[in-house]
Amino acid sequence: MSLSVEIGDLTRVEADAVVNAANSLLLGGGGVDGAIHAAAGPRLLEACRRLRKTTHPDGLAVGDAVATPAFDLPASWVIHTVGPNLHRGQDDPTLLASCFARSLDVAAELDVRSVAFPAVSAGAYGWPVSDVARIAVATARSWLAGHPDGSPREVRFVVIDERVQHAFDDVLGR
Ligand code: AR6
Repeated sequence: MSLSVEIGDLTRVEADAVVNAANSLLLGGGGVDGAIHAAAGPRLLEACRRLRKTTHPDGLAVGDAVATPAFDLPASWVIHTVGPNLHRGQDDPTLLASCFARSLDVAAELDVRSVAFPAVSAGAYGWPVSDVARIAVATARSWLAGHPDGSPREVRFVVIDERVQHAFDDVLGR
């Protein structure tokens, strides 16, 4: 099992699944979401629209996760999750923990080996990076410990800059 942080661009990562910090509408946006949609191509938006017409007519709940193919990305799957938005008073850490745990549940259902996460909620949704790093690492650690024989085995946090990397390094104990 491995848990690591690196600076990079999620749209270029060669993991089996990349996690998208989406919003409840599932129809794209800015930040990681915009970058993933731009790089994956228009079929990703079509796949998200299909989810809205079928399994998710009311959108994706905060803290939940759902997968689509990754189309033109190097990854095979995009796992969309919706972080809590601090600017809207969504300050419950269990909702943010749920984003990481539910994304790993979905990755397990897909039977993938590696998953790459962004710092969900640390951008437009306004959560302090140190809180995101602490919650992300604790949740992934406990999820991996609770699934010793399954998939995924490799969890990577792919972050935008050194400031975010240091926050993850601190909690990863390096
Ligand atoms: N690769 C890795 N990390 C990135 C990338 C990238 N290509 N681009 C940005 N980040 P955000 P949120 C970092 O705002 O806070 C969207 O409009 C970014 O610097 O993408 O969950 C959605 O549609 C920050 O550290 O996600 C939603 O409406 C982190 O990824 C809303 O924003 C997350 O920032 C979601 O906000």
